Amino acid sequence: MHINGQAWRTIWFDEADQCVGIIDQTRLPHHFETRRLNSLDDACTAISAMQVRGAPLIGVTAAYGVYLALREGHADLAAICERLLATRPTAVNLRWALERVSRALQQTPESERADAALALAGVLADEDAAACSAIGEYGLELIRAAWDAKRAVTPEADCLDILTHCNAGWLATVDWGTALAPIYKAHRAGIPVHVWVDETRPRNQGAFLTAWELQQEGIDHTIIVDNAGGHLMQHGQVDLCLVGSDRTTITGDVCNKIGTYLKALAAHDNGVPFYVALPVSTIDFTLEDGLREIPIEQRHPHEVSHMQGLNEQGQLTRIQVMAHHSAVNNYGFDVTPARLVTALITEKGVFAARRDSLAALAERPA
Ligand code: MRU
Repeated sequence: MHINGQAWRTIWFDEADQCVGIIDQTRLPHHFETRRLNSLDDACTAISAMQVRGAPLIGVTAAYGVYLALREGHADLAAICERLLATRPTAVNLRWALERVSRALQQTPESERADAALALAGVLADEDAAACSAIGEYGLELIRAAWDAKRAVTPEADCLDILTHCNAGWLATVDWGTALAPIYKAHRAGIPVHVWVDETRPRNQGAFLTAWELQQEGIDHTIIVDNAGGHLMQHGQVDLCLVGSDRTTITGDVCNKIGTYLKALAAHDNGVPFYVALPVSTIDFTLEDGLREIPIEQRHPHEVSHMQGLNEQGQLTRIQVMAHHSAVNNYGFDVTPARLVTALITEKGVFAARRDSLAALAERPA
């Protein structure tokens, strides 16, 4: 996608410097900075400190992390994967990518493993970009149908209003994004879309990242506080919700950024379609019950008690936003039960959030 008109991916291998390049997402939207990852430690820090984040992107970063570890001379593949896997617990893409890399490397002579890991990380990155682009195409058709239906009932309507939560845009993947990919494709196809962007406390991925992405692509959007969605839906101002997923069970339960469940409840109560966009790498075919089985990340209380932004001098700074000594809880994700999900948009097509439908998806070639 584009930054100031120039095409970027979120992660790449820099041949000249022989390092892995990333966009440091902790600095956005105020500063656009890239970082070089040169070691396993760098890769682990990038994921746990959320310089890179979003389920698909942390999977690809972990694959590059294996390469960096082998290049440094770490030989114990299981130990490398264990360290990377411990960085963030909820998004299953991390495990998916590490399993894929480990399986391939077990067949590879030790002296060739680093090069093979680098090549495979590149393949995973390309596959993710292609999957997200395909999600965009399938989602575009849903958006087109929603826009046609809206215009049929309200000919004076000037746009389709879509609500999204957190950042499931290209910054959360290698390119295109999951939930935002259909929006980008719709915009390029000339469908007038307007996006309600939940700010997504505590880390503000909506206000900081989604809004910035949409701005770069020239897409009309409005940032709202996390609690506004229900009110907007009650007043007919949301035509559909479109979010991403960090882990989806075989039964169609969806785990995504904390607060997603409340949006799904409000959507259900107001008859607003609630779509979830995800690559197949985000489906955990081993899990049945999202509420009981998906591990929910708890992050540092500082993310709740403090906020980052520009001060009056234009410097990036952190301020405390609550009284000292109050207890703080910081759950990163919640689970939306399948019954609240209208459909899952994947690179293989649009599927009902049900076991039989997801079983059919598993069988379908990409
Ligand atoms: O904590 P984050 O910023 O990694 O959470 C990201 C999300 O919740 C996204 O919605 C999810 O990873 C799907 S992204 C393609």
